[in-house]
Amino acid sequence: MSTGEQNPTSALLPVDPFDIVVFGATGDLALRKLLPALFHRWCDGQIPSGCKIIGAARASMARDAFITLVHDSYRGFFPKEEFDEQQWAAFAEHLEYCGFDAGDENADWSDLADLLAPGIDKIRLFYLALPPGLFGPVSTNIAKAGLNSAKSRLVLEKPIGRDLASAHQINAAVGKVFDERAIFRIDHYLGKESVQNLLILRFTNSLFEPVWNANAVDHVQITVGETVGAGNRASYYDKSGALRDMVQNHILQLLCLVAMEPPNDFGADTVRDEKIKVLKALRPMTNAMAQKETVRGQYTAGAIDGEAVDGYADELGAASDTETFTAIKAHIDNWRWSGVPFYLRTGKRMAARRSEIVIQFKRVAHALTPAGAGHLHPTRLVIRLQPDEGVKLLLMTKDPGPGGMRLRYVPLNLSYADTFSARYPDAYERVLMAVVRNDLGLFMRRDEVEAAWSWIDNILGAWKSGNIACQPYQAGTDGPTQAAMLIDRDDKEWFDGM
Ligand code: BG6
Repeated sequence: MSTGEQNPTSALLPVDPFDIVVFGATGDLALRKLLPALFHRWCDGQIPSGCKIIGAARASMARDAFITLVHDSYRGFFPKEEFDEQQWAAFAEHLEYCGFDAGDENADWSDLADLLAPGIDKIRLFYLALPPGLFGPVSTNIAKAGLNSAKSRLVLEKPIGRDLASAHQINAAVGKVFDERAIFRIDHYLGKESVQNLLILRFTNSLFEPVWNANAVDHVQITVGETVGAGNRASYYDKSGALRDMVQNHILQLLCLVAMEPPNDFGADTVRDEKIKVLKALRPMTNAMAQKETVRGQYTAGAIDGEAVDGYADELGAASDTETFTAIKAHIDNWRWSGVPFYLRTGKRMAARRSEIVIQFKRVAHALTPAGAGHLHPTRLVIRLQPDEGVKLLLMTKDPGPGGMRLRYVPLNLSYADTFSARYPDAYERVLMAVVRNDLGLFMRRDEVEAAWSWIDNILGAWKSGNIACQPYQAGTDGPTQAAMLIDRDDKEWFDGM
């Protein structure tokens, strides 16, 4: 196969007919991500006829009003998307709405039961786009209403709790109703094309594995930077903060995929077994470590792309010590990674939207090139997750031409945009279809979520007992200066792109 050729086996994987109930259907996640994802899958011909997409929320609303709400918000969120009203009308035939309080044990579930009744043998998804405190009660009420059929699956949106104890409680409550193999805990990062490619990059190219360890790797950086602020989610976000919102899930998942041992195959549990070993090898953060190896930050007013934006406290309308940025030096205490720091950082209102993983290799043992030839940079493998997905291997090269020995640091560049022409589905499109196909590999198992919380709890505890306060950083920058100092102390620097 020549480079760039389409894989001849690539095709739409058909899925069996299903019904999905989206609880929290009038909320931001449902309107911005889930219902548009289903519409896109429908446009691509993946949703079989006969599927029902049922929105459920407390507001009482006629079906038509719900359809209008979904339509109008889709047009608001995807103004540039090609939009065919006829296609939309055909999709809308599948939409239904039930207005009731699913968390109330006395609520009347009969409308929902009637809608689901004809499809008793169909795959049934209950998607809880709800606050985690409702996961237990709603699951119990699903069972009480007799709707937990043999083919039912429960989909839980993160966060699963706010610490290990609450995650335990939630997992125990939903586990009373649904078997672990019917519970799909979403981390939408696992549905991102570039994140899925991490395993392929590592385990299908013989180049990397021999150097993917402490002998050759100097350190690893994982950055998830966003330019958006907390905005209208500030009241939710204020109870969470960057550590719970991004590190406990997305960043630790990325760290697991980078650091785990090769699984025997790509089976869901084989991969998850390897990931959990990494989580368990993370060195617990002590109070003394947290002082030096973690940073908390909060954005103040500044500018993003030339536009003035408010500080976090102004958005929230109150003073707060919730971190909108964090940087952490993590250690994985196992044979492969002994002595290799993993620097993690994430923040809102940063200079650029940029998520990437940098594997920085050790410097060559002896520099042969003459002093004036130019600075010798370390070899870096940069895996760009978003935007501009791709992989770059940064190498030292001789600048061609006369004039003596001059060195240049240049990338070998695999850009997705230049290499692959097809539109690829958004992460939520992929994870939703994976639930229907019963592919648990893209979802977090109970023990995985709890192992992640256990490490996070240590950090939260150390922050609290050490009174580690948020450092201010101006919106539109790379976070507080303390984040630069955290890595600079080790004689390293954040890689900020080339
Ligand atoms: C969510 C967080 O899980 O991920 C948000 O709750 C964050 O705060 C979002 O903005 C980032 O996702 P993406 O796909 O835009 O990188």
